[in-house]
Amino acid sequence: MSKRYTVTAALIYANGPIHIGHLAGCYVPADIYVRYLRAKGAEVTFVSGTDEHGVPITIRAKKEGLTPQAVVDKYYTQIKQSFEDFGISFDVYSRTSLPIHHETSQEFFKTIYDKDGFIEEVSEQYYDEVAEQFLADRYIVGTCPVCANPNAYGDQCERCGTALSPLELKNPHSTLSGSKPVLRATKNWFLPLDKMQPDIEKYVTGHTEWKTNVAGQCQSWLKEGLRPRAMTRDLDWGIKVPLPDTDGKVLYVWFEAPIGYISATKDWLIQKNGTDAGWETWWRRSSPDDQDTKLVHFIGKDNIVFHCIIFPATLMAMGEDYILPDNVPANEFMNLEGDKISTSRNWAVWLHEFLEEMPDKQDVLRYVLTANAPETKDSEFTWKDFQTRNNSELVAVYGNFVNRAVVLTHKYCDGKVPVPGELTDFDKETLATLAAFPARIAEAIETYRFREGLSFLMDLARLGNKYLAETQPWQVIKTDAERVNTIMNIALQIAANLAIVSEPFLPFTGNKLRRQLGNGQWKWEEAGSADLLAVGQPIEDAFLLFEKIEDNVIEKQIQKLHDAKKMNELATKSVPELKPTVQFDDFAKLDLRIGTILEAERVPKSDKLLKFLVDDGFEKRTILSGIAKHFTPEEMVGRQVTFIANLAPRKIMGQESNGMILMAEDRDGSLSLIQPHKEVWAGASIS
Ligand code: MF3
Ligand code: ZN
Repeated sequence: MSKRYTVTAALIYANGPIHIGHLAGCYVPADIYVRYLRAKGAEVTFVSGTDEHGVPITIRAKKEGLTPQAVVDKYYTQIKQSFEDFGISFDVYSRTSLPIHHETSQEFFKTIYDKDGFIEEVSEQYYDEVAEQFLADRYIVGTCPVCANPNAYGDQCERCGTALSPLELKNPHSTLSGSKPVLRATKNWFLPLDKMQPDIEKYVTGHTEWKTNVAGQCQSWLKEGLRPRAMTRDLDWGIKVPLPDTDGKVLYVWFEAPIGYISATKDWLIQKNGTDAGWETWWRRSSPDDQDTKLVHFIGKDNIVFHCIIFPATLMAMGEDYILPDNVPANEFMNLEGDKISTSRNWAVWLHEFLEEMPDKQDVLRYVLTANAPETKDSEFTWKDFQTRNNSELVAVYGNFVNRAVVLTHKYCDGKVPVPGELTDFDKETLATLAAFPARIAEAIETYRFREGLSFLMDLARLGNKYLAETQPWQVIKTDAERVNTIMNIALQIAANLAIVSEPFLPFTGNKLRRQLGNGQWKWEEAGSADLLAVGQPIEDAFLLFEKIEDNVIEKQIQKLHDAKKMNELATKSVPELKPTVQFDDFAKLDLRIGTILEAERVPKSDKLLKFLVDDGFEKRTILSGIAKHFTPEEMVGRQVTFIANLAPRKIMGQESNGMILMAEDRDGSLSLIQPHKEVWAGASIS
């Protein structure tokens, strides 16, 4: 093992709350890894924070009607708190708006600039003359050249998935002002990834141990051939380019954000020691063959190229002694109840809401997210599966074993760890199996196979259950109390082992179990031993580690998901498109009138139709209207309505209708009558 680990978890954009997809993709595996390293006694720092620049922030600000600063402040605070309550054990949760990060990333830029590491290039970019600013790709909408979707973005068409550049869009317009953007020349600084390709390729292909999903993405980028990439952007939200005459230019967010891991390390040291002295230990080598620090980035799959190619290229451009990422164990995506998780469509389980509604179920969620982790391919979260895994795995296997061990110890052994007697062959076999577990779990964690590690942990709980089921202390007690002492000693030793190996995966549970067994401060190295608990050690009274989850709890969550999505659809529903222009003469042909409803009744055999007798000022006419789902006949009688008086008669369900009553359809599909604002004479014409 390396001596020292710098472990990072993605700096999420501070433009929305954390959801289970983020947790499964990156934060839970990172936390398991780090907790394991700490238990092993390794020197490790675990850094993360929020990414507070870039277009995603400004888009959110516009949507919420807030300033970008207000948006990042709001979400930083919320995200930090929910991670803390969830037990993600960051050493520091930093943010890229801190002065230390502005300084650090500007220094990086300046250093590479001074070494002639960038190429300066003038290119033509879209400019919005009304809003007086250059347009980021996401601010340009136009027609997709591939599928003709009229609402494709400058970087991607969300209908057909094609990656685009703004210049490929037909009929581009600015989402800021609606105007047609013009091309304007602007200077930016590019990292010559094309020239760096041989070095990057050597680095990437040197890591044959990377996950196939990660290596695969890298290979496809390399195969296409890397192109120079702009490290500055014409934008007003971000970190100023530290060069003269660069007003209105900021560092590209994907240049500075990963440097945020370094700034976060400095932030951590400053908070701890009052100075950032020593940060280099975590990021630089003192000599080329000093391999002491291992850098590991936990991210989701959409971040792979930035961590495996662009950030390493930045570090290479800085000079030789920066440590390059040793591994980037990126996960694929987790879907939810059969659909992609989506912040904009509000299809997600939000961490802060989960913690509020199920404040003691952090480990259940960690368990389910790890057991279903999208390690090699996309996976799926369902509430039903959450319930099943809780009830038939955590409660029925893990909780049940611990509970039996503790309860029986109180019943037969006075609540203390009993003296073991002679071991049977079955005892010895069980202990040999026990001894092999920690190494198997450790191996799985060290190779980023957390699902497998967790399944071994459950196998250990199963071993405990099996041991009790086969030795049957509740029978043996009738004849041989000494044998029961041995059995309970072994069962408790298995439970203590379970506490140790649970800590990385299920920290709340591991801790409760450890306290239950007398608060032993065991190290990972001790796991596997049958001697963790000393004879005579008091065991606390039994309490349940996990509780059964009932159907109604799950049903409520599923309902909530669908409701939230519906609300969101309503909120984002746009008014119907305008029909083509008509001339005044066309409009004048319509005879619109106000009438008073005299009688109303349902039409037999129809659940939609109401039949009205309407006073139109000349006579009484019959009008049929498909509004029975919205109005009762009784509430319509006596009302004034707007109707088309010269519509040709139509037969509907065998009845003749002479006219049409007008309605306004609201956002949620409900109907509203169009009535004069004061009562008017029946037959009043509308013009
Ligand atoms: N902000 C990016 C996202 O939310 C992740 C950035 S990770 C970084 O997808 F540290 F490299 F910036
Ligand atoms: Zn398209």
